Amino acid sequence: MTRPRIGIIVGSVRENRFAEKALEWFLPIARSHPDLDFEVVDLKDYPLPFFNEAISPGFGQPARNATANKWRAKLSEFDGYVFVTAEYDHGPTAVLKNAIEWAYVEWGHKPVAFLAYGTVGGARAVEQLRTYVVELQMASVRQAVHIGGSDFMGILMNGKSIDDFPYYADNARTMLDQLAWWTETLRKGREKEAIRNAAA
Ligand SMILES: Cc1cc2nc3c(=O)[nH]c(=O)nc-3n(C[C@H](O)[C@H](O)[C@H](O)COP(=O)(O)O)c2cc1C
Repeated sequence: MTRPRIGIIVGSVRENRFAEKALEWFLPIARSHPDLDFEVVDLKDYPLPFFNEAISPGFGQPARNATANKWRAKLSEFDGYVFVTAEYDHGPTAVLKNAIEWAYVEWGHKPVAFLAYGTVGGARAVEQLRTYVVELQMASVRQAVHIGGSDFMGILMNGKSIDDFPYYADNARTMLDQLAWWTETLRKGREKEAIRNAAA
């Protein structure tokens, strides 16, 4: 069996985004995990319009929009996801919410974990995302990384680095272990379902 593949979805597309720092710090930790492979999927590379299809992605039909089909094809390559999550106006970024809406089948029965940041560690954005992903039939992993408070301000404004706060790496490793368990468990479940469907 091939190693599970996790897509790291970068949920901010603005210039000078903090997401770069978070990603740069997180990637080596992720790539040292013994059971998971990772690929960065940057929403900058998928300039999706606001969702405007006549037919919901829930029906699994190709979209009229070519970027959406590219986005959905990329998502389908993965067994799970990490959302790199900024908090805008006490919620997730609009660009991430919109990208979530452009797919459905591709997300289903897979786990998602969160690397979030903001004044309260992006917690309000993550809590909203957890409610969204239930509708997509995803499992949200309990442990998240929340870079927040004076740590976040120190990194954002005062030349500190995420490495100055080693507890975030501990959080990230715990999160990845939980993600690995869910990834393996749900992959087995999806395979069982595929077998059952094939036999029907
Ligand atoms: C439109 C906008 C709304 C924001 N709202 C919040 C917020 O509600 N809570 C928060 O902690 N930070 C908020 N911020 C500050 C962000 O945490 C900070 O700009 C961070 O760098 C955003 O992530 P990014 O640079 O990766 O886009 C907001 C920033 C923007 C641009």
